[in-house]
Amino acid sequence: MNKRFYLTTAIDYVNGQPHLGHAYEKVIADVIARFQRSAGSEVYFLTGLDEHGQKVQQAAVTEGSTPQAYCDVLAASWQAFARKLELTNDEFVRTTQSRHKAVVQAALSRLHAEGHFYKEKYEGFYSAKEETFLTEKDRLPDGSFPASFGEVIRLQEQNYYFRLKDHQQWLIDHIESNPGFVAPEHRRNEVLGFLKNNVLEDLCISRPASRLNWGIPLPFDPDYVTYVWFDALTNYISIPASQQDPGVPAYLTEGSQPGAGLPLWPADLHIIGKDILKFHSVYWPIMLKAMGAALPKQILVHGWWQKDGQKMSKTTGNVVDPMVLVDEWGVDAFRFYVLRELDIGGDGNWTDAGFKARYSAELANGLGNLVNRSLSMLKRYRQGIVPAQSDELRPDAEKVVAETLELLKGNRLQPALLSIWSLITRANQYVDQTAPFKLAKDPAQAARLDEVLYNLAETCRVLAILLWPFLPGTTCRIYEQLGLSGTPDSRTAVAWGGLIPGHAIGTPAPLFPRKDP
Ligand code: ME8
Ligand code: MG
Repeated sequence: MNKRFYLTTAIDYVNGQPHLGHAYEKVIADVIARFQRSAGSEVYFLTGLDEHGQKVQQAAVTEGSTPQAYCDVLAASWQAFARKLELTNDEFVRTTQSRHKAVVQAALSRLHAEGHFYKEKYEGFYSAKEETFLTEKDRLPDGSFPASFGEVIRLQEQNYYFRLKDHQQWLIDHIESNPGFVAPEHRRNEVLGFLKNNVLEDLCISRPASRLNWGIPLPFDPDYVTYVWFDALTNYISIPASQQDPGVPAYLTEGSQPGAGLPLWPADLHIIGKDILKFHSVYWPIMLKAMGAALPKQILVHGWWQKDGQKMSKTTGNVVDPMVLVDEWGVDAFRFYVLRELDIGGDGNWTDAGFKARYSAELANGLGNLVNRSLSMLKRYRQGIVPAQSDELRPDAEKVVAETLELLKGNRLQPALLSIWSLITRANQYVDQTAPFKLAKDPAQAARLDEVLYNLAETCRVLAILLWPFLPGTTCRIYEQLGLSGTPDSRTAVAWGGLIPGHAIGTPAPLFPRKDP
């Protein structure tokens, strides 16, 4: 191991409202981070906030606040959101922090000095809502611009542009020769299709400070601030740079203090939603190449959630608030549902009925019932003392362990849950088939009952370890009920036979209380 496993999420717009979509992405990242740690890797998990731009400036003015004070208040609630989801992020980046701004300016200075930028007058259409320039291609057949751009104004101004034409071919080659660079595959094809069928237009990287001043000043022209996306994307490298990461070009790390640990850059994984694919798979690699930095290994693209078949929107009130769900059902039920329901890549639809159905069938009656009856019977029939080792369910457990490990290495979270649930189903069937409650009535069956009880308790222990990245709190409770100290967070403990005969378990209690109306 010569570097840390470094993974990131998108940084959320500070002025948005934390909703299901944001939570989903962060939970994906957290499960992968926990899995990698449990498999023995040193991990660095970064998430955070995107705080510059016109919308933030306007909202602060409307509230009679300063942009920084406005961001500080919102940042506190986003950080509370991260804790509520039990994210194990190692850092939380805010693009208004000086450590970030210094790196953005160092990168801009270098790119400017090396001739990547030129200044030119622009005359045309501009969407303030999307903070983007529009072209004829953006028009609808009737000549108007899509409503998503909000009010479109005519604009005439000078700006700095990043020359992209020399970058198109190497990027195509890179994506073609690194099949995992963009995952899943249909997203990779989308990027390749775009690059092969369009000539990249140069990227405008500035905004006049007279129009928008809530941004990072261009180091070579104080009349301008940095375009938000150039600023935001740079977060992924500014945090390693601010720790003098050896993987980052030295000119980006000047003035920072060295951090501890193995190198971070290049990132192993950027986890993002489908709407920001082009920024991450086209502009970001080109920025990095121009900066002289290595490219990330993978961009993992998830789909979007709707609620009841409609786009989630603050204005219609059609939003799923993860905070409310976590308070009512527990964070693990929420984490489980989003990952079980939606495979990474596809789009999903939230319904309250769907959530409750999985809670009841898979958590309460599946996992919860298995653990509760296994441990209750061990308590009742053997005073909670683990009997001699028996290996009847061992092949089933070992198959699922191997399968889950492989799937998780490939970030296949939903298939991993399906595999784990096949072991839960198998163990629940085993209870029904062996009928320990009948065996307990017949003294001649004492040895058989010992076998059954061992297999069930040991399966619960293996499940706690397999499920720890997904259900951190619940699996700690399974460990506690098994009378085991510590946390089920190490893959090496998953080997069959970990429960020692003679060990006394703890007290069984329902993991997922049934919520009958
Ligand atoms: O785009 N379902 O921020 P953001 C699933 N600041 N994912 C969703 C979603 C939904 N309904 N809605 C949003 C930004 N997301 C920029 C990112 S990164 C350098 C800068 C996802 O707050 C979205 O796809 O609009 C993105 O990955 C993340 O939430 C943040 O979105
Ligand atoms: Mg968005």
